Amino acid sequence: MSKKPTPTLTESEQAELRERSRTPTYRKVRRVEPTDGPGTPSAKAPDPDLGDAMIPKERYTSRGFLQLEWDRMWSKVWLLGGLESDVPEPGDYICTEIGRESILLVRQADGRMRAFYNVCLHRGNRLRPTGISSADSFKCQYHHWEYGIDGRFVRIPDLDTFPQGAPPCRGLKELPCDTWGGFVWFSLNREVGPLAEYLSPIPQHLDPYHFPRMALTRDITVEWNCNWKASVDAFNESYHVQGIHPQLLYYLHDLDIQIDCYERHNRYLIPFGTVSPRVRKPPSIPDPIKTIMKTAGMDPADYDEPLENLRRDVQVHKRRTGASMGRDYSKLNDDQLTDDYHYLIFPNVTLNVHADDLMLFRQRPHPTDPDRMLYDVWTFELVPEGAERPPRPKHQYFRHGDKSIGLVLDQDAQNLPGVQDGMHSAGLDGLWIGSQELRIRHFHKVLMDYLGKDADEAAAKLDSR
Ligand code: FES
Ligand SMILES: [Fe+2]
Repeated sequence: MSKKPTPTLTESEQAELRERSRTPTYRKVRRVEPTDGPGTPSAKAPDPDLGDAMIPKERYTSRGFLQLEWDRMWSKVWLLGGLESDVPEPGDYICTEIGRESILLVRQADGRMRAFYNVCLHRGNRLRPTGISSADSFKCQYHHWEYGIDGRFVRIPDLDTFPQGAPPCRGLKELPCDTWGGFVWFSLNREVGPLAEYLSPIPQHLDPYHFPRMALTRDITVEWNCNWKASVDAFNESYHVQGIHPQLLYYLHDLDIQIDCYERHNRYLIPFGTVSPRVRKPPSIPDPIKTIMKTAGMDPADYDEPLENLRRDVQVHKRRTGASMGRDYSKLNDDQLTDDYHYLIFPNVTLNVHADDLMLFRQRPHPTDPDRMLYDVWTFELVPEGAERPPRPKHQYFRHGDKSIGLVLDQDAQNLPGVQDGMHSAGLDGLWIGSQELRIRHFHKVLMDYLGKDADEAAAKLDSR
């Protein structure tokens, strides 16, 4: 059977399409230059040359690729396990899952955190269910093998009936564990380098926000029917704002924003409290921006400056009044008082960082199914000095569509099952990535640095077995 040649867009057809696709802009599109301050660097990092090749769609659908991700990436990197504030006392622990593994992150008598596989060394029973709790020791429910909070054997009933004695390892298998930013991190890789080195330059960028002063206000996990990377991608570009979040065009600047790619991690800086150049200037202050003003303690009715001054004026107001409201902005630059400094900590932690709040997403792969994932959302609010911390919210777990998770995140979520279906279609060749999506390209570059150049081919081989 003769194969039909693939139709190719001619140069004049390209030019015509380009003309039709021109973005109407109502104000000069310019990079909004952040002002340099004492803390978080705001200078633009040079863009890496990552080419313009199509990204293979099979990375999102292949079981072989999922396996390679586990073998060569998930089991090598540092991973976010939970919140330090959830485990203040010795014996407090977080039991978290990644892939097929379940891990105990336990506060020790000396205040340190340690990580152990959550598996009994007798016949493999899980010691504790997923969640947060406290223990004097970990006693397996099955035959009552008991381990201390330091992981060591405390008691093995009828040990003398084991002619080989106790397992020689002394207790639960331990993993690297460390803390940063009020979060507990662990790695499945015993040879992993220091956490600070792995996270660099994130602590330097984000310590000025003082995350440990923020309190958790929401804790949910949603099962999504898409590959975990489709979810990471959905938050790594501002191109979709004009597509699925039209209301945000009256709230933020989405076009030509600053993107910075570092060795592993990346970010973009989205100005808030301003209007997208894609839309005509509204006759009055848009409601979402009024909310920003009110939250900052300004009365929109009193504001009679032009709209383009508003973002700067909110910054000035917050700078002037922050300390008296118990909010320490001293380490933040002016733009950080309004904007979304948006980071990806490779591979799976997305942070929407603001002076007064943080919205964090953690994407986790399904253990065996590339078409499914877990989407964790944690939101935090800065607790003003002297104010009481709000009570910790209960963790909620549900499936996509069972409940609204808020307008913007619902809009983000609604496409993803369709995207995942499309990745399986013979009608799609691969991901066609533009410069507004540079962070997606960078993410894939880092991923492939872990997986190796042969990974796409090796995954296909695994799939054909
Ligand atoms: S499996 Fe844990 S004591 Fe037997
Ligand atoms: Fe979005």
